[in-house]
Parts: sequence; structure tokens; C-alpha cells
Amino acid sequence: MSNTPQAGIFNEESTHFYFLEYGLNDKDREAVKQALAETLKACKIQYSEVSVVVSFGEKAWHFLQPSWMPATLTSFKTLQGQQGHQAPSTQADLFFWVHGADISQVFDVALLVDQKLKQIADLVLQERGFRYHQNLDLIGFEDGTANPETEELKREAAVIADGLSGAGGSLVLSQKWVHDLDKWDEIPISCQEAVVGRTKIENIELEGEAMPDDSHISRTDLKVDGVPMKIYRRSAPFGTVTEKGLLFLAFGCELLRFTSQLESMYGLTEDKKIDQILNFSKAVNSSYWFAPAQEDLHALLQGS
Ligand code: HEM
Repeated sequence: MSNTPQAGIFNEESTHFYFLEYGLNDKDREAVKQALAETLKACKIQYSEVSVVVSFGEKAWHFLQPSWMPATLTSFKTLQGQQGHQAPSTQADLFFWVHGADISQVFDVALLVDQKLKQIADLVLQERGFRYHQNLDLIGFEDGTANPETEELKREAAVIADGLSGAGGSLVLSQKWVHDLDKWDEIPISCQEAVVGRTKIENIELEGEAMPDDSHISRTDLKVDGVPMKIYRRSAPFGTVTEKGLLFLAFGCELLRFTSQLESMYGLTEDKKIDQILNFSKAVNSSYWFAPAQEDLHALLQGS
């Protein structure tokens, strides 16, 4: 029997999202496990409509479950791209992705998580994402179009395969991107389309000579040794009228899915070309995580 991914990963009905990251401050493994078990139990009992996906950084997983490591998991290391672009590592220990359709309930759960975790961890990032029009990013293009479509394809892209350590779980990349929308709005739509690699209104992929090598699609639609580097993206826009952008979030079956795309975006490839989207948005937070399968999460927290 295959392990079961955390259900919230695939719930696409949500319109409100909280991204909460924590650094552990308690050296007592059992105290941390107990706080986590109580948090998840309270969320489940009181708010069954809200999805809570919990993920662990490499060090935190090793601390809590020293007997095994998920296949390919590492901490995020700062990426120094061509032309001065950078994706700084802000790797933390715990990542709670709380989402649902009712903002009141989603907010209640975010408060509950924070209240329960206070005793063992420090909050290092909190952001609130939202669905913007018909799944648009704030740059005005639909986000998520090329995601795998069927349940089977989503699982293939997002879930560690049977037989590997951590099977049924996922590798996760989270990044906070801050957009320069003033700069973006200054360029004509045809140039925006060349940056993304799709048309803005019809949302059709550019073809042939019309598709630049340095468009976002060209830099991320990749194959490594003939294997398509598919990931399952669950990003959400966030922001205020001053700071705004994208909470990028993606689930993958192996870390290579993310590292190959990021290296290609930052020009760390033979052609040294950077993704043109980097000239309009800046990654300010980046972490890799492991979202264990329900069975592994249960085993970790058992008895706590
Ligand atoms: C400022 C940050 C970003 C923005 C605004 C953004 C926006 C978009 C948009 C509008 C699309 C086209 C529609 C779609 O298929 O979803 C897209 C596609 C895609 N993005 Fe991003 N993205 C960002 C960062 C990233 C990052 C960091 C990665 C990977 C590490 C990534 C991976 C992908 C992939 C794999 C696709 C689909 C490519 C294909 O057509 O197969 N994106 N993104």
C-alpha cells in the first residue's frame, strides 16, 4: 500500500492562504513533538473545513526523526545568479500552510497554530495570500495553467515515489517574491508576454520564434536526461499597496525538480541567460521543506 500525501496539498478550492514559518527554540524533542501533535489535533477537531499542511526543514526533520531522512532533502542554499540577481536562503524549521475558502476560519486556524507553537518555536515569517480574480498573479497573467491536470499526474509530479525514503511525502519549495509593479506596468503588453512566454488575455503559450530563450516558460519548462521536470505549483499573490508579490509554493517528487528550474532561471546554466521575470520581481525568502505522508507524520507524533 502506498503512503497517503497530506490532503491539503491537493485541495484547490481555497481562496485564502496563510504561510507561517517557525524556527525551533526548544531543545526538548518530546516537547516539540507534543506541541505539534496538539496543534494538528486542535486544528482538525475545531476546523475541519480548513486545510493544514505541515512541512519540516532538513535540520528540524533530523532533530525530530533521526532514524531516517527523506530522499534528496537539503536546506536551501543562497543562489547567486548571473547579473547580480540573488535568491537568499532564509531556511527555517517548520512551515505551516493553512488554507481554505472562509477567511474567518483560516485566520482562526492561523491564530491557533501560532498560539500552540509559541512555547517551542519563534515565528520568522507570516504572510497572507489570496486568490486574485481568476487565479491571476499580480502581474496580470494566470498562474498555474501548466500544472499537471489529472490526480495521477499531480501525484507523479508532487509525491516521492514508492520505494524511496519518505515515499508519499513531498519536497517543497517556498519563496516570497516581491514585485516591482510600477516597472512592470511601464512596459507594453507584448513585452510582458515575451517575459512570461504566454499571451496575457488568451493565456496561450508563445510558439517558435515568438518564444524568447529567456522567457519564464523557456527557463522553467525543462527536461533533465529526457525527464520532464514537472512540479505542482500552489502559489498565491500577497500584499499591501506598498509591498506585494507572489508567495511561490510548489511540491515536487525530488529536489532536482526545483534546483534545475532555479539554476535555469538564475542563469547558472551553460547559456548563462537569466529569466526575464527576475528584472521585475525579487525573491526575498527561500526554503526547502519536507511534507511527510500522513502515515509518517502520525508515526513521528505518535504517543505525544
Ligand atoms: C515572481 C515569481 C513568479 C511568477 C510571477 C511566476 C508566474 C508564472 C506564470 C504567469 C506562469 C505561466 C502560467 C502557468 O503555467 O502557470 C508560470 C509558469 C511556470 N512557472 Fe512560474 N512564476 C514565478 C516563479 C517561479 C519559480 C521560482 C519557479 C520554479 C522554481 C516557477 C516555475 C514555473 C513552471 C514550472 C511553470 C510552467 C512551465 C510550463 O509551461 O511547463 N515559477 N509562472
